[in-house]
Order: sequence, then C-alpha cells, then structure tokens
Amino acid sequence: MTKNIAVIKGDGIGPEIITEAMKVLDAVAEKYGHTFNYTQLLMGGCSIDANGEPLTKETIDACKASDAVLMGSIGGDTTTSPWYKLPPNLRPEAGLLGIRKALGLFANLRPCVLYPQLSGACPLKKEISDRGFDMLIMRELTGGLYFGEKKTETVDGMQVATDTLVYSESEIRRIAIKAFDVAMKRRKKVTSVDKANVLESSRLWRKVITEVAKDYPEVTLEHMLVDNSAMQLVRDPAQFDVMVTENMFGDILSDEASMITGSIGMLASASMNETKFGLYEPSGGSAPDIAGQNKANPIATILSAAMMLRYSFDMTDEADAVEAAVSKALNDGYRTGDIMSEGMTKVSCSEMGDIIAKSV
Ligand code: IPM
Ligand code: MG
Repeated sequence: MTKNIAVIKGDGIGPEIITEAMKVLDAVAEKYGHTFNYTQLLMGGCSIDANGEPLTKETIDACKASDAVLMGSIGGDTTTSPWYKLPPNLRPEAGLLGIRKALGLFANLRPCVLYPQLSGACPLKKEISDRGFDMLIMRELTGGLYFGEKKTETVDGMQVATDTLVYSESEIRRIAIKAFDVAMKRRKKVTSVDKANVLESSRLWRKVITEVAKDYPEVTLEHMLVDNSAMQLVRDPAQFDVMVTENMFGDILSDEASMITGSIGMLASASMNETKFGLYEPSGGSAPDIAGQNKANPIATILSAAMMLRYSFDMTDEADAVEAAVSKALNDGYRTGDIMSEGMTKVSCSEMGDIIAKSV
C-alpha cells in the first residue's frame, strides 16, 4: 500500500523523536512492502519563526490532503521563550488547538499500559504496580473548557477573566459512541468521568452517556466524579478499561495516568475525527530542557506511529510488529534516561530508535 503521511516535527524534542518514529515506519515499509511518502510541515514555534503564525492554511490543507498526520511536539519554555510574549492566539499551543479544530479531531485516544518490564519505574506501591494495568483514556478534544468563550475584561476597575465550559448533546454523543465502540474491542467497561455534583455541563454529559450506553448492553458503564477518578488512578488503576471524559479533565488525568506507566515518554496518542483520519502524537510535551541532546524517549512517538498503522491504515500485523519490537527492546533491558533503572542498559534517543527499527 502507498500512504501519504503529513509530518509535523515541531519544536523541542519533536524533531528527534519523529526521526526515530520515521525510522521505524521505514522498517515497516520495507518488511511489508509498503510505500510511505512523507510531507514535512511546520507548526508551533518553528512556524511562528518562519511564518509569523503557529499554524498556516498551507499546513492545514496539506494535512487534509494526507492519509494521516504524524506529529512530534510543539512549544517551548513558557517563562523564557519569546513565543510566550506573543498574544495567546499566536503562541505555539494555538497551532495545536487550531489543527485539532480544523481537522475535526474530537476524539483523543490515550492508551496507558504499565509494561511489566517497567513496573520498577512506576511510582506506585509494588502491590499495586504488580497487578499491572491497561486502560485507555478517551478525551473529548474539540469542545469543553478549551474551546468555550473566553475573555479578560475590566469590571469596576478590576480585571476579570472568564473561560466557559460548554458542551452540546451531539458533541457528547459522538465521543460516547467512540468510547463504547473501543470498549467493545477491549474489556467492555466504560468509566465516564464528570463533575455532575457541581457542573451543569457534567449533568448533561452524564445523561447523554447513559442514553448511548443503552445501545451497548454488553458494556458495563459506571460514572465517576473527576476528583475521585484522580484518586482511584493511584489507588487501583487496574479497575479501569476505557475512561471517557471532558477535554480539560482528560488533559489532567492523562498526565497522571502517564506518570504511573513509568514516564510520560511512554504514552502514545491518537486524535481522530469521524472517519479513519487521525493525527498521531506522543502525549508528552516538547521538553525544551533536553531538546537537541539525543536523550528523549522516542517510544511514545513510535507507539503513536503504531496507532496510525492500526487505526488509519488498517495495518494490524504491522502495528502488532511495532508494539512487539518496543516490548522486545524493553525486555532486552534497553532504557532511555527517563525509564532507566539499575542493571539496565542506558541508550540515547537514536539508539532506541535503531534497536526498535531493527527488530520490527
Ligand atoms: C496535551 C497538551 C496540550 C493540551 C497543550 C500543549 C495545549 O497538554 O496534548 O495534552 O492541553 O491539550
Ligand atoms: Mg496535556
């Protein structure tokens, strides 16, 4: 098969981790007889430097014309980078939010798995990490608190800032359907996370999720308040299968979930629209402190590329092969700095990419 992949390397560690993911994709292409054509595009800080804006129409159009988008990370140090002296709508993050919206990527899938080989890197008590966990956070990505009306105004001489958490029934329904569909292919349990004891939007969320659940009689649905969910994630993560939640709650809980997998450098992510089209990126940020040092963990990006093979290209064997190659690298004791532990072999970002590509 021939697939056209839009590649956004982005800022910070983005170029390094994407280079490794492309290495692995090239190994897949060679082994399985596919052709992957890459179109490199700018977004985020590098686009601000080149074009004066974080996301250009050219990048959006090229992404739309591709079969899938592979992305590294965007943004810089928010206290020192000149990008953060710009108005909010011209900062790197506006590019990421803009492309999610422009491509209609409302469903963000973040699988959080504790690899048995990494249970030592999990900060939870051994009796909890020994049980392992394998969950998927389905984060709503184009609505909620991120995209509601926002403003800062002066009222009676005092500055007042407002963000709005708004959801329509149809926005909740479509993410609920994605969550239940995925649950049907997993352990058939959905935990819907909200704050229905306080928020109006959460009460609608709960109502619509409950309605959608009726079409999936095999799936067990539970509702959980977001504060309790944060607690349950560290108390007993094995209880979760699919967790579906509002944009901001999902942002926060997915960072928490990544930490208990050992490192945010392990957490892949797929952002999808109603079709098979998606943007694939690691859940972590641009890590400007280690950028350019060949130290970053490329595994989340490589696993994101595997999700692209699986979800956008229907290349199941190929995706399995990449995931198995990641497991093998860990089994063989190779670790980047973030997941390093005693007795293991410390490798650089590019060495990890080489090792995984070789065993695909
Ligand atoms: C993420 C990131 C982004 C988000 C930032 C960079 C805007 O934290 O993908 O989780 O908040 O969605
Ligand atoms: Mg985040």
